[in-house]
Amino acid sequence: MINLNHAVQFQRTLWLNQLTKAQTIVDATVGNGHDLLYLANHCQKGTTLYGLDRQAIAIEASKQRVAKECQRQDINCHFIEGRHEILLSDTPWLAAPIDLLIFNLGYLPGSSHELMTQPTTTIEAINQGLTHLAPRGLITIVAYPGTPTGEAEAQAVHTLLTTLPQQAYDVATWMPINQINKPPILYIIKGR
Ligand SMILES: C[S@@+](CC[C@H](N)C(=O)[O-])C[C@H]1O[C@@H](n2cnc3c(N)ncnc32)[C@H](O)[C@@H]1O
Repeated sequence: MINLNHAVQFQRTLWLNQLTKAQTIVDATVGNGHDLLYLANHCQKGTTLYGLDRQAIAIEASKQRVAKECQRQDINCHFIEGRHEILLSDTPWLAAPIDLLIFNLGYLPGSSHELMTQPTTTIEAINQGLTHLAPRGLITIVAYPGTPTGEAEAQAVHTLLTTLPQQAYDVATWMPINQINKPPILYIIKGR
């Protein structure tokens, strides 16, 4: 059943389609590892997944989650501590073009909001990610406009995406439209 009330859930429908062929997956904000765990449990055998995060506690939490809740021996999972805008600009760790790149923006639940994603570096990371995207690769970005920084970040992502050439990318956005607060927004980039 497609869940239409939250972008984090809804994006999975797009992932499932992409996962039928994806061999290289990057979670640029691995956090507590919920998204990466879902991808690890649903990807094809032989897939390589990378989880990136600037916080050591996030890397540790996601590593443990995947070790405990994903029993697969037929995929490779790597965790890299660092800032995604830097890691995606200098990529000796990346063995192949990226078929699926995901960003779940904002802050690690329970940790300092000072370490939340920021508009400028998020835009840098998306731009860098585009240079590594495989043909017909998919990028999903969930933005949280409920805080001033989150709102500025969502606006910056929106503006960047409107500039991507139609000949090269299909670009779209999705959000629930009857919610009283500002719900998370999903941004989608698909190489053509
Ligand atoms: C909303 S959480 C991600 C949730 C995660 N995908 C999950 O399923 O649990 C956002 C994460 O982005 C990380 N982050 C913030 N700025 C970053 C940056 N510049 N580079 C890499 N990670 C960053 C934070 O440390 C935080 O863990």
